[in-house]
Amino acid sequence: VNFLVDKTRGEIVDNLIDGLQRLEYRGYDSSGIAVDGDSKDETLIVKIPGKVKVLKDEVERQKIDRKPVFDNHVGIAHTRWATHGQPRVENCHPHRSDPKGEFVVVHNGIITNFHALKTLLLSKGFKFESETDTECIAKLYKHIYDTNLKAGISVDLSELTKQVLYELEGSYGLLVKSTHYPGEVCGTRKGSPLLVGVKTDRKLKVDFVDVEFPDTTEQAVNHNANAQKDLGLLPVAQGDNLRTSQSRAFLSDDGIPMPVEFFLSSDPASVIQHTKKVLFLEDDDIAHIYDGELHIHRVKKSAGESTTRQIQTLEMELNEIMKGPYKHFMQKEIFEQPDSTFNTMRGRIDFENNRINLGGLKSYLSTIRRCRRIIMIACGTSYHSCLATRAIFEELTEIPVSVELASDFLDRRSPVFRDDTCVFVSQSGETADSILALQYCLERGALTVGIVNSVGSTLSRLTHCGVHINAGPEIGVASTKAYTSQYIALVMFALSLSNDSISRQERHKEIIQGLQKIPEQIKKVLLLEDKIKKLCDESLNDQKSLLLLGRGYQHATALEGALKIKEISYMHSEGVLAGELKHGVLALVDDKLPIIAFATRDSLFPKVMSAIEQVTARDGRPIVVCNEGDDVAGNKAYATLHVPLTVDCLQGLLNVIPLQLMSYWLAVNRGIDVDFPRNLAKSVTVE
Ligand code: G6P
Repeated sequence: VNFLVDKTRGEIVDNLIDGLQRLEYRGYDSSGIAVDGDSKDETLIVKIPGKVKVLKDEVERQKIDRKPVFDNHVGIAHTRWATHGQPRVENCHPHRSDPKGEFVVVHNGIITNFHALKTLLLSKGFKFESETDTECIAKLYKHIYDTNLKAGISVDLSELTKQVLYELEGSYGLLVKSTHYPGEVCGTRKGSPLLVGVKTDRKLKVDFVDVEFPDTTEQAVNHNANAQKDLGLLPVAQGDNLRTSQSRAFLSDDGIPMPVEFFLSSDPASVIQHTKKVLFLEDDDIAHIYDGELHIHRVKKSAGESTTRQIQTLEMELNEIMKGPYKHFMQKEIFEQPDSTFNTMRGRIDFENNRINLGGLKSYLSTIRRCRRIIMIACGTSYHSCLATRAIFEELTEIPVSVELASDFLDRRSPVFRDDTCVFVSQSGETADSILALQYCLERGALTVGIVNSVGSTLSRLTHCGVHINAGPEIGVASTKAYTSQYIALVMFALSLSNDSISRQERHKEIIQGLQKIPEQIKKVLLLEDKIKKLCDESLNDQKSLLLLGRGYQHATALEGALKIKEISYMHSEGVLAGELKHGVLALVDDKLPIIAFATRDSLFPKVMSAIEQVTARDGRPIVVCNEGDDVAGNKAYATLHVPLTVDCLQGLLNVIPLQLMSYWLAVNRGIDVDFPRNLAKSVTVE
């Protein structure tokens, strides 16, 4: 939305498409925009399956008149990853209430009561165009608007939004624009992120916006309850919002409204090029923007909640989210690991005194030390970082640690107690399964810790305390640098829990000195790229399947390596605990099946060697990842990949990198769009 800013409709379209392109890294199957139409009573919608580039071409093809139509312009846009309905044009967002687009919405999340709503709206005569849950929201807006109108009541857009939200169940990050409210937009969220960027060339006079609470008088409450019963047939009373002057934050020194543009988005990446000033909305906030003002209303009032929303300055640079000299984000992120791992440790390790200082955990460490168990909960790659560090956690803290996949943890309704510490690990901080598991643990009174990359994300805000892994934005769908940084953050967490243990001082020292060398050692491992490329060309590109063997610390590496390979090269691959080889997997081994074994030096090295022998005895010719100077399988190995030696519990940081590179080159060689593998999304914000 722009106010007193001389922008044409064409510029708004460009901004929207540009913003969508910045979101492409999240994974999507279609995209669309809605802007003001040529006349006041219609909205122009362009939407299409495929990449944002396809949308851009379609916009150009339609030759939309770029000239201004109104004083202020509002546009909304969306990239979609199908939950209900195939990626077809009618299922793309924005969705509209009627062919003219009186109300248009874009929505992230899932409306769980949409079948009931759809049935009701069908009975009121609405005709649906799509199979999506979102379309119900647009229709519901119109239905409730019309109902108010019939009763002779005029409601503002935020009030109307509130009435709509009373009817919705599920999760949403939602934007609405309407021909009845030109130059206005409302954004609201529940369980799905949403932020407001504020851009002006003047200095902002305040750094917060007041929250406007709903009226809780008996009359208003009764109205609301009745409205809920019959879909707005008895509309909510008017004027139930307190207007506060602080909300009108966008005035010049002389009290005159100043030119300002507002950007609402689910992700700072799409806003950062315009402004670094952002305000993160909370669940049940409604941001209403009109006439250069931003008002934040609450859907409902609950005790003890914050009465302001801070305007923060984001520290992210745009070039941080660009590809640089690399062909793909994934490749860039693999090669960033000497820096990203260093950044995870920066300022947090006292190498002289072998002590760890994690500011975000400080006041909670003594409580965590007394907990009866630690439960680590995550999905995908983040789950593997938990597995990789579980042993060192248990060794250093002597607290039992269990590692859980968020979805399975919830499926089992696993018991959680007040004296448990639940650690949530997530790159995005927005993974729906992890957030639901977090809510589950919070409800049961456990202490929660977030190990998160995205600053300001839902997980980082809802946990009691935590560590930002500081790896920088990760854009490639297949996670690489986040894994190594999560791994280090978790090791530092375990170390800080045992900072004061005298008997473990030597072990501490060994690990901390090991950590110090990791960034340089990663640089050395990255030099293997040419050898790995050659290996792929010689023996892997055309294979259908691949096994990865590891045990102890390297079991997680085998699982993570296998996940990388299947995610982006679509080759079937399986990470196998070497100790389990003889219990089934050995039946697959022959002289053709490619096998990768992790045989770096730790206490389990002899056992891994015996697994390798079992493979070579059956004519298998494994590729062995081993330490520099070791010639582990002699001429029986197909090839060896030498990595530097580090402390046992850190070796996985180095061993995983050849596998990241291998998956990358297998995918490139197969002509796959590495950063956007089919069917996968960077941030899975639905269950
Ligand atoms: C998706 C991504 C994975 C990621 C997983 C967990 O599946 O494709 O790369 O590991 O989600 O995401 P999170 O953001 O919670 O770490």
